[in-house]
Amino acid sequence: MNKIKKEHKIAIIYHSVHHKNTEKIAVAMADVLDAKLLTASEAKKHDLKDFELIGFGSGIYEADFHKTILEVIEINNLKDKPVFIFSTSGVKQTNIMKNKFNRNIISTLSRKQAKILGSFSCRGWDSAGPLVRLIGGVNKGRPNKRDLQRAREFAQEIQKRA
Ligand SMILES: Cc1cc2nc3c(=O)[nH]c(=O)nc-3n(C[C@H](O)[C@H](O)[C@H](O)COP(=O)(O)O)c2cc1C
Repeated sequence: MNKIKKEHKIAIIYHSVHHKNTEKIAVAMADVLDAKLLTASEAKKHDLKDFELIGFGSGIYEADFHKTILEVIEINNLKDKPVFIFSTSGVKQTNIMKNKFNRNIISTLSRKQAKILGSFSCRGWDSAGPLVRLIGGVNKGRPNKRDLQRAREFAQEIQKRA
């Protein structure tokens, strides 16, 4: 695996393909944390061991993070590594739903013995699926200014916890 030049101490790794909703959140958090932004496909080519803090973000597809994010986690040694997770989804993540969407990533990160510092979620514009398409999509304009502000505040909080 390639080594990334150590110009950043923090990495944010994301997968965002539907409307780039998650990318907007990733960019807002990276701005606060001065983090290196990598797509999950880019991250797969690199060794992440030199990063002191890593965020993993994804749109929710079929009730889960995208598998490339899970693959990045699998191939890296994350023992005791401070990490955080974030996602955007069509459906609001209530406490019950949050556990559902995050179930795989949390169990994978726990098995890898990473130190999970927090998780963030917000709704994202969703025009997938025949029913949703029929009504022109849901959550148009999300993430909005308020979501991005929440993302920035979450990143500040993570910085304090790291
Ligand atoms: C193939 C596909 C499957 C999806 N499955 C779900 C789902 O199970 N639950 C949900 O709440 N949203 C679902 N969505 C909506 C996305 O989670 C939402 O639009 C998200 O913000 C997309 O993020 P992105 O633009 O960063 O890819 C799905 C979208 C797509 C394209």
